[in-house]
Amino acid sequence: MKLPLFLAFILVTSFATFLVFRSSPEPDPEIPGQPEQSSLAYPAAILPADPPVKEDTSPPPPPDHNYYSQGRRSYDGTGKYYQGREIAEVMGHQAIVWLERAKREAEEAPAKAIDLITLEPGETLADIGAGSGYYATRIALKHPKAKVIGVDIQPEMIAFLESRAKQLDLTNLSATKGTIQSVGLAPNSIEAALMVDAYHEFSHPYEMMTSLVTALKPGGLVYLLEYRGEDKDLEIKPRHKMTQAQAKKEMKLVGLTWEKTIDSLPWQHFMVFRKP
Ligand SMILES: C[S@@+](CC[C@H](N)C(=O)[O-])C[C@H]1O[C@@H](n2cnc3c(N)ncnc32)[C@H](O)[C@@H]1O
Repeated sequence: MKLPLFLAFILVTSFATFLVFRSSPEPDPEIPGQPEQSSLAYPAAILPADPPVKEDTSPPPPPDHNYYSQGRRSYDGTGKYYQGREIAEVMGHQAIVWLERAKREAEEAPAKAIDLITLEPGETLADIGAGSGYYATRIALKHPKAKVIGVDIQPEMIAFLESRAKQLDLTNLSATKGTIQSVGLAPNSIEAALMVDAYHEFSHPYEMMTSLVTALKPGGLVYLLEYRGEDKDLEIKPRHKMTQAQAKKEMKLVGLTWEKTIDSLPWQHFMVFRKP
């Protein structure tokens, strides 16, 4: 009697177990190895297409500084300010006659200034904002074994400088057309740079000086000649003069170290800065 009862019990429990497992509807995510349900209920062809990739036409991000501002425009200025100074207007190529004037030596003593420049044989000096090449030509004549590059943004100035170099058969003098933001010279390619009455009219002084510092070799020198801004009696338009304090502030901003100022010229500060 006990055996049939036991067999009946086994039968009932087996059937109950079969019913429970048969009705289990979902795979248990906790149990590994179970087949996953496909999310692709339809063939890919009838799914909606991805939205077309749009080309980014937004303007490039601004530079990582904002040194410039607009303000009141003076009669000889641009209304664009940098480090508290209004940037001067660019002197047009029509002024070549003034730059090349015979009495310039008597007024500004450029020969004296050129004597203060150190340039060894094999070295390169770039005259930035060279204009007609008044200084560049004389430096190339004085240092025939050094190389002089005149950089300017006006093609007429470049043409004048090149014709002068050809006329004088100066093979160590060449010209490069820069842009308002760059001197256009290769990195670490020059030992020295000269700027005579030019820096104050660069429309983008920060970018210009950053590119100049890149072009200089470590230890390279920058000769900066500017009409003395402290001298109210000097008959030069105010925006075309600079004080020493202002020049030092702006050169420091681009990583140049002030070395010395020689004030033996009649109209200009002769300032010397070095790339560390
Ligand atoms: C007043 S002139 C001086 C020329 C020359 N240094 C001299 O003393 O005879 C200034 C010159 O700087 C140039 N200049 C202005 N902005 C410049 C820039 N961003 N890069 C190169 N030259 C620039 C002008 O085209 C102009 O020829």
